[in-house]
Amino acid sequence: MSRTDALAQRPPMGWNSWNCFRNSTVNADALLDVADAMVDSGMRDAGYEYLVLDDHWQASHRDSAGRLHADSARFPDGIAALAASVHDRGLKFGIYSVPGSTTCGQYYDNYPATGIGSLGYETLDAETFAGWGVDFLKYDWCRAHLNDGLEPRAAFARMARELDATGHDILYSISEYGLFAPWEWAPDFANMWRTTDDLHADWGSLSSVIAQQFPVSGHSRPGGWNDPDMLQVGNGALTEAEMRTHLSVWAITNAPLIAGNDLRSMTDSTRALLTNRTFLAIDQDWGGAPGTVYGHYHPFVDIWTKPMSTGGRAVSFVNMYDDPAIVDLRPHLDVDLQAGTYIEAWSGSDFTPEDFSHISLAPHDALLLLPSGR
Ligand code: GLA
Repeated sequence: MSRTDALAQRPPMGWNSWNCFRNSTVNADALLDVADAMVDSGMRDAGYEYLVLDDHWQASHRDSAGRLHADSARFPDGIAALAASVHDRGLKFGIYSVPGSTTCGQYYDNYPATGIGSLGYETLDAETFAGWGVDFLKYDWCRAHLNDGLEPRAAFARMARELDATGHDILYSISEYGLFAPWEWAPDFANMWRTTDDLHADWGSLSSVIAQQFPVSGHSRPGGWNDPDMLQVGNGALTEAEMRTHLSVWAITNAPLIAGNDLRSMTDSTRALLTNRTFLAIDQDWGGAPGTVYGHYHPFVDIWTKPMSTGGRAVSFVNMYDDPAIVDLRPHLDVDLQAGTYIEAWSGSDFTPEDFSHISLAPHDALLLLPSGR
């Protein structure tokens, strides 16, 4: 096991600013309010430990020594002070950069800056992040093959070496949207790697991302995890049923859980979903293989299973259909699976062998089952 593997023996958990703030409204005061909310809401104690500042934090230019620094209007005390305040709350701190010359914010959102990508500054940027007390780096591709002619594996591996050279424990999260089959090479040096394009807070995006997990779900292992993107629970147009589906698939595939909602105004029902103990127990357990699709029924109910380290298998039934589904899954499931008694995560109810004969799912809804007593 390498040193970096030790940083992510379980799927990483935390919160990231992008899905909530997106643009340059992100600032130190708001982030510290989020950090307080992570503590007060019970998110931290449930395991969400990293607070990650995504794109749009940078000043418009590097300083005279070539160092990155933060926009001084929004981060008046700088990033080291922010990281220290986050640490004071018992949390870890993450930040964002890119391997090329241009951040996604510059490219897609006209973020007013030049020369803030890490290309040519890899050593200095890794040292800067380590010096600030950064615990997590999200390193985001942003068309670097087109803009800068970079080769993804080499560019991402370069920063991995620089992070290692700092001697600091910095979890390494890479993001190239699954463009170059990262599950085949990123496990050599990264702790998590995106498998898809950005997940948006609507059913079309969620169902597409879920479908894209089918062929790649076997590549995770302790130390390095497939990342189907940050959570959109509590955001946008997702219904409660769709949020249950979102979290059920993330749990059964051992996906990193990086919340992306505004924790300062989180509803009780969103908090209950994100901190559901049965859901977290499944996501954080490594039973020797990540979850995969066991089968499809009729053909819109997907059945996912994953082995649990304590024996037996966790199961999820997901209705991808726009209509309710009431199905008898006994003919489609092996005897072992049907022999057990489970607890259903979202209702907290027992699920007995008889219940396999009449599984009722609302449109876009899911059940998530953990073997009882495990
Ligand atoms: C890309 C990433 C997002 C976010 C933005 C920032 O789109 O996929 O997660 O980091 O860049 O600009």
